[in-house]
Amino acid sequence: MGDTEQNEQEITGLINPFVDQAGGLLPALHALQENYGYIDGAAIPILADHFNQTRADVHGVISFYHDFRSEKPARHIVKICQAEACQAMGSRALVDHVNAHIAGDITIEKVYCLGNCACGPAVMVDGRTYGRVDAARLNAIVASHRSDAKS
Ligand code: FES
Repeated sequence: MGDTEQNEQEITGLINPFVDQAGGLLPALHALQENYGYIDGAAIPILADHFNQTRADVHGVISFYHDFRSEKPARHIVKICQAEACQAMGSRALVDHVNAHIAGDITIEKVYCLGNCACGPAVMVDGRTYGRVDAARLNAIVASHRSDAKS
């Protein structure tokens, strides 16, 4: 909560460029998520005010699009494709693996297609896509992202 509540001015600054655009709410939400990593509940009334919508409308848009997060993500974001081609190659087991063994500083997001269907199961870690990922490889990928984050 705290961060964005203290930053009403900053939120307003981020969403202002989109206020007069048709359909500007979506790019405004993207701008907030890009800046904070998620859309804090405190931003909802500010968005509602600026875009002349009810809070429920804004909330509805956020929950409709799976890309938007309502909670602060962990340090690393692991998106695991759950669409058919990747599921056939074992992507569900990867979700279980992360939950059981490499949680902690990781937010898991189930996504539906990363555009890498020929190389399933496909995974995206901190914005980088990997194909043919099994549990051991995912451990190694996460370890390398953790060490990159430290350097
Ligand atoms: S189905 Fe998984 S990347 Fe397309």
